[in-house]
Amino acid sequence: MPCHQGGDIGPMPLTNYEEVAAYGRMIAYVTREKLMPPSRAVASAAPIVGSRQLTGKEIAQISAWVDGNAAAAP
Ligand code: HEM
Repeated sequence: MPCHQGGDIGPMPLTNYEEVAAYGRMIAYVTREKLMPPSRAVASAAPIVGSRQLTGKEIAQISAWVDGNAAAAP
């Protein structure tokens, strides 16, 4: 994931399963609140070329994965 690789501007690396799973609940929160990935673009009717924004379906999939993971966690 860009920005969340060693030395990049993201405060923590999110480069493998373990790193992502360790921040699962926070990732579910920041994606649900649309804090991440950050969008500098002003919302408009025109589609933004190269937008990094997650779709509602992707955000829901992340939350479901985290909930499932949390349920599986010891
Ligand atoms: C664990 C939760 C997360 C936290 C606390 C977090 C925090 C941050 C922070 C503080 C930055 C630097 C922002 C700036 O200086 O403007 C950043 C950058 C970024 N993050 Fe996250 N992040 C998280 C998860 C994610 C996730 C899940 C994604 C993607 C789905 C993501 C995508 C990005 C991107 C693309 C940037 C670079 C933005 C730019 O180009 O300026 N982050 N993150």
